Amino acid sequence: SVRLLCVVYPVSRRLLVLSNFLSSLNSNHTMAFPIPSPYEWDASFDVKYDVINDQHKELFKLIRELDADRASGDKLTALLNYVVLHFTHEEGMFDANKYEDTASHKATHAKFVNDAKALTSIGDSEMTFIKQWLVDHIKATDVKYMGKLG
Ligand code: FEO
Repeated sequence: SVRLLCVVYPVSRRLLVLSNFLSSLNSNHTMAFPIPSPYEWDASFDVKYDVINDQHKELFKLIRELDADRASGDKLTALLNYVVLHFTHEEGMFDANKYEDTASHKATHAKFVNDAKALTSIGDSEMTFIKQWLVDHIKATDVKYMGKLG
């Protein structure tokens, strides 16, 4: 049985390393989904809740409007206000349904709000950051609550 342990243990270690590697590939930090152009919601962003889909569509629209008028402080403010409204709505559904991933999802929301509020001007890199964040967030993180929010 000592010999058996020697064989089994390294295999299970290797499986653990492999599984950690695969889950790191699956984390929203490494995921980069294609940014649609034009920047519009499509069925690949469907999370199966109508109110949330409608809010995501509005976020795409507000980001398009900011992109078209980058120097406008009003467009950035309108986007940030709606981002907060949307996150508050989504988080309310997490709380109401005791969603298991609530803490980490809320932390992801809070980090984006902080990062977006820290933007002092909107150029190409800032637009790409905002567009990529929403795409990746919906496809890597929001999708995880499908079927779990009542
Ligand atoms: Fe739809 Fe987690 O934002």
